[in-house]
Amino acid sequence: MCVSEERWSERRTQRAAELPLPPLDARRFRFVQILAQQERHGGQIELYDDLQEDCKVVGKRLLRSWTLDSSEEFSEANPELLESPWKEMELSVKVASVKGVCKCLGAFEDAGQGDIVILMEYVPGGDLHDLVGRCPTEPGLEREAKAWPVILSLLRAVRSLHHFGVAHGDISLENALLGQDGEVRLVDFAAAVTESTVLGSRGKPSYQAPEMHQTTRAYDPRAADLFACGVFAYCLALADYPWRCTRPRQCSAFDFFMARGLSAFLAQRRVRFNDAKGPPVETVLSPKLQHLLKILLDPTPEKRYQVWQELWEEPPTSLKVDLPENPSAEDHTHLLPLKVK
Ligand SMILES: Nc1ncnc2c1ncn2[C@@H]1O[C@H](COP(=O)(O)OP(=O)(O)O)[C@@H](O)[C@H]1O
Ligand SMILES: [Mg+2]
Repeated sequence: MCVSEERWSERRTQRAAELPLPPLDARRFRFVQILAQQERHGGQIELYDDLQEDCKVVGKRLLRSWTLDSSEEFSEANPELLESPWKEMELSVKVASVKGVCKCLGAFEDAGQGDIVILMEYVPGGDLHDLVGRCPTEPGLEREAKAWPVILSLLRAVRSLHHFGVAHGDISLENALLGQDGEVRLVDFAAAVTESTVLGSRGKPSYQAPEMHQTTRAYDPRAADLFACGVFAYCLALADYPWRCTRPRQCSAFDFFMARGLSAFLAQRRVRFNDAKGPPVETVLSPKLQHLLKILLDPTPEKRYQVWQELWEEPPTSLKVDLPENPSAEDHTHLLPLKVK
């Protein structure tokens, strides 16, 4: 385990975000354009000019009709929901200093509409979902070589976050942006948790760890983040999802994986690229990546923690051979951004 239980319960006692929030300074932040619409809650991601710092920043606008006036009101109105915009505001600010997380300037109230705007650094590289969709390189060793630095950067970000005492809860291509330095920046802390065990399914269906669906048994959200990292790595290397969802008996691909194991799954699953079916996935992935996937996608949650030893802590293994010795070093020259044409 990478974070002591004591540290986790310490984090749990922190206060929730609450109104009144500081007003959004319209003289300092000038609206430029909408970057993305939020389908579910009517909010949006907006680009601003920060006239004081002479740079661009991003605002995540949360409609007041969605957030309501307090965390308590929101929970009463949405008792089933595990995500909370109030948790998002609170945690986005708290994790702002964590390496690999998109820097957050704070949560503000827009005097005009009464909405809440979470301001953060602008990451112009875009999210990995977008980049994967635009990367023309077909699955194979060349594509994998581009994917590795991003996978390692994601794992470093997740490791730092877990050390800080927070599990992301919604690791996905959409929630990982690629900075100009080639490093991943995590966004979207609406499903994040500070507890060491939780109940209920969080995140997107393809990324949910299988233990999330055992409704009465609490699970470790950090181990669940690692499962999502495995799905992320698969998607990056193959430009395809391994399965649609991980609920039992809802996706035959996932049921096959659970029944027969990863090796049989990779032998059976075919590459799907540009709407054409290709060879079995196992023939286009290096043994090193297959080994990493085996650890991260292990159905037994505790076994996924093996990734930290394999990658960074133990004497060289087949995985460690060409990976950076010191993941926290400032030198990122080993990282090549995913080239997009
Ligand atoms: N700081 C940012 N810089 C650039 N793009 C961003 C930033 N934050 C979010 N985005 C874009 O907006 C999308 C949605 O943001 P997110 O916080 O995940 O909102 P949602 O709650 O709708 O999932 C991201 O997938 C990304 O494409
Ligand atoms: Mg998101």
